[in-house]
Amino acid sequence: MSTVIGNIGELVTNEPGLGEGPLGLLRDAALVLDGGKVAWAGRSADAPAADEAYDAGGRAVLPGYVDSHAHLVFAGERAEEFAARMSGRPYAAGGIRTTVARTRAAGDEELRANLRRLVDEMARQGTTTVECKSGYGLSVEQEERAVRIAAEVADEVTFLGAHVVPPEYDGDAAGYVRLVSTEMLAACAPHARWVDVFCETGAFDEDQSREVLEAGVRAGLTPRVHANQLRPGPGVRLAVELGAASADHCTFLTDADVEALAGSETVATLLPGVEFSTRQPYPDARRLIDAGATVALATDCNPGSCYSSSMAFCVAVAVRDMRMTPAEAVWAATAGGARALRRTDVGRLGVGARADVLMLDAPSHVHLAYRPGVPQVAAVWRAGVKQV
Ligand code: NIG
Ligand code: FE
Repeated sequence: MSTVIGNIGELVTNEPGLGEGPLGLLRDAALVLDGGKVAWAGRSADAPAADEAYDAGGRAVLPGYVDSHAHLVFAGERAEEFAARMSGRPYAAGGIRTTVARTRAAGDEELRANLRRLVDEMARQGTTTVECKSGYGLSVEQEERAVRIAAEVADEVTFLGAHVVPPEYDGDAAGYVRLVSTEMLAACAPHARWVDVFCETGAFDEDQSREVLEAGVRAGLTPRVHANQLRPGPGVRLAVELGAASADHCTFLTDADVEALAGSETVATLLPGVEFSTRQPYPDARRLIDAGATVALATDCNPGSCYSSSMAFCVAVAVRDMRMTPAEAVWAATAGGARALRRTDVGRLGVGARADVLMLDAPSHVHLAYRPGVPQVAAVWRAGVKQV
């Protein structure tokens, strides 16, 4: 069954050949969805007929958000840790262990239900592609369970056995890194496409991170790295050196880090919800974009450093506090996320793309940053199927 969405006030295609600027903006546009894909995009007046017609009433339409960084397989929450942070306690990697203990104690059904709840929450807000990491199991059985459950629900699965060293390996980080790079990786690789490591003081150093990522590559996974989140460090450099799809966080960068990203295929994935929720300084998106780096925006939704699933919130903060234009932020939350996941079928609305469509209850994409905190989702289609 085909659907024509007509009378679109502003259509963001992310196809520069189709319309104006990097967003490929078309006005008075229409979109035809057929067989789960975009079959046609152009002027409303030229739109072909379809089985079903939907009148956008002059609203803006964009590709569904691509949230390329989230940690959704966990149990429990850490609201008290957040409250303490707002009273002055700094964020530290160690809080992850609280969620590890709670996750290990949970049954499969509890984890599955929590994951589904969060992915549904994302879908209602316009997110149509979700990446999901493991990293709260930290044993062979628990990490295997996490990636297996993630693969049931998420579009993209990342093995993050190297999130922190679990308590039973206190004093033997090298032993844990060996476990992650051998037995744990072998159990998890069949369910994942990506391997990630938290390269940070208090988590894993450069050599340990390299060992995990190189083992992941040998097992057929592609690296992505939690890099330079809490202080300057080797993460970004390592990500670029290993050809990672993305370096995530990028909060504390040297000029050499920015240059390395700009001269590479590694996407700089910025996670403004984390800085909001940890009171850290925001990453400087302007500096990265001006240098020529590709920037993505993602939520990092997790119970510790940012328990928000809202890509619209990320867009608004990125515009307000990270010196991105509304157009750059919307591109980063859609096409940028697709780049970070090396996907060409999502994050755009050209012919042949997956029919992931977000209709705003607003006349233009600028309203996402202009009206922060206001629900503006009018309708969502994923693979041509109406979700909202
Ligand atoms: O991306 N930085 C490491 N991991 C997560 C935080 C996870 C947690 O605090 O539970 C992050 O911020
Ligand atoms: Fe993260």
